Amino acid sequence: MDPVKVGICGFGTVGSGTYAVLTRNAAEIAARVGAEIVVAEIGARRGCEDSDVGATAVNRDVFAVADNPEIDIVVELIGGTTTAKDLVLRAIENGKHVVTANKALIAEHGNEIFAVAAEKGVSVAFEAAVAGGIPIIKALREGLAGNRIQWLAGIINGTGNFILTEMRDKGRDFSDVLAEAQALGYAEADPTFDVEGIDAAHKLVILASLAFGIPLQFDKVYTEGISRIAPEDVTYAEELGYRIKHLGIARDTDNGIELRVHPTLIPVKRLIANVNGVMNAVLVQSDAVGPSLYYGAGAGSEPTASAVVADIIDVARTLGATPDARVPYLAFQQSALSAHPVLPIDEVETAFYLRMSAVDRPGVLSRVAQILSDEGISIEALIQKEPPEEANLVPMIILTNRTIEGKLSSAVAQIEGLESIVGEVTRIRVESLAG
Ligand SMILES: NC(=O)c1ccc[n+]([C@@H]2O[C@H](COP(=O)([O-])OP(=O)(O)OC[C@H]3O[C@@H](n4cnc5c(N)ncnc54)[C@H](OP(=O)(O)O)[C@@H]3O)[C@@H](O)[C@H]2O)c1
Repeated sequence: MDPVKVGICGFGTVGSGTYAVLTRNAAEIAARVGAEIVVAEIGARRGCEDSDVGATAVNRDVFAVADNPEIDIVVELIGGTTTAKDLVLRAIENGKHVVTANKALIAEHGNEIFAVAAEKGVSVAFEAAVAGGIPIIKALREGLAGNRIQWLAGIINGTGNFILTEMRDKGRDFSDVLAEAQALGYAEADPTFDVEGIDAAHKLVILASLAFGIPLQFDKVYTEGISRIAPEDVTYAEELGYRIKHLGIARDTDNGIELRVHPTLIPVKRLIANVNGVMNAVLVQSDAVGPSLYYGAGAGSEPTASAVVADIIDVARTLGATPDARVPYLAFQQSALSAHPVLPIDEVETAFYLRMSAVDRPGVLSRVAQILSDEGISIEALIQKEPPEEANLVPMIILTNRTIEGKLSSAVAQIEGLESIVGEVTRIRVESLAG
């Protein structure tokens, strides 16, 4: 086969890692593809003066790369959803295959991009968009392709996991750890996407699409971040045998699809509860295999490049095939939309951890228990602490059995209305993650 020509657009963390892996492992990659992979041009706004790119042509205009008639595969690594979208559409219009690591782009504009790609008979591959170096997209599309996926739950944002791990290990509070994560370069200067769960929601939407054959529906994800987790929640969760993790959960139920990102109490004994620091993991429950867990580096230059290069290899292998023989990356079934609507969070069923501050006087617990019972919610466990000296507020922690979120919200509103409860009730969802 003739050499396959690649154009890399964006030469930052992932772009430079991709170039390094393609160059360093060129011989192994050529043997696996049956053709040499050549980086024919790099699109880099500020040029590549500080990087060793040998004799590779560098163009400061990324669109020139998408227009270069020599290039077979355009690799979009500039990020964002504006220029990146125009660039990807331009490459597709020019009949080029696209590889991208851009989860925001795929989650928000993937439906449109895949439709155009299907018309043009080109592939759009995005392994690196979810969980960096973990080949979770290929696991869902290929390794688990014979299974019915029942649910999946993932730690898919390394920054959030790093913060929660530090809070637990060192008893530090959220804002303190966030400042360190920013100093270490794990968190962006504007950490909103990471800590408010938006980045995880982008990735969850992509996973759910592949798992359940539904279109990408970013606007339907219930998203809650970790900024309201207090150090005492982490401690109480441990006392109850749980660990708090920020999970993206997608579940196929009889009523519809649950799509939610939020802090979650999970039993300490689960492997995924022990995924710490910036590492990522996705637990998939499927009918034939049962549970399977995918673990690894969710970000970083070469871990992410590993996924980008795997996609380049995949696409290069299909270049000799007819367009019809190429496996579509997302097999949308429009009919699946009505059969499997995404459920509003009020209709989702989980157990709950509740923490509240009660005035230290008799009868408060029974009133709270009565409110829960009136909503049909039973109590699984309870911790009532002695008030700290000189204070008359008692921390009260309740684990409920599984209930519908709407009922829990109604109970919480009533509990917050009690004169003897001070401030807001903290609620964190609890998942057993049992198969
Ligand atoms: N970093 C990771 O670990 C990781 C993991 C998984 C996925 N991703 C995804 O990979 C993509 C790239 O991330 P990154 O971390 O490599 O970002 P980065 O280090 O900021 O690099 C982005 C590069 O794109 C260039 N660029 C941005 N806008 C451009 C434009 N309009 N025209 C030309 N060049 C432009 C930037 O050039 P300038 O230097 O001139 O601004 C920079 O070289 C993102 O979609 C990200 O979500 C990253």
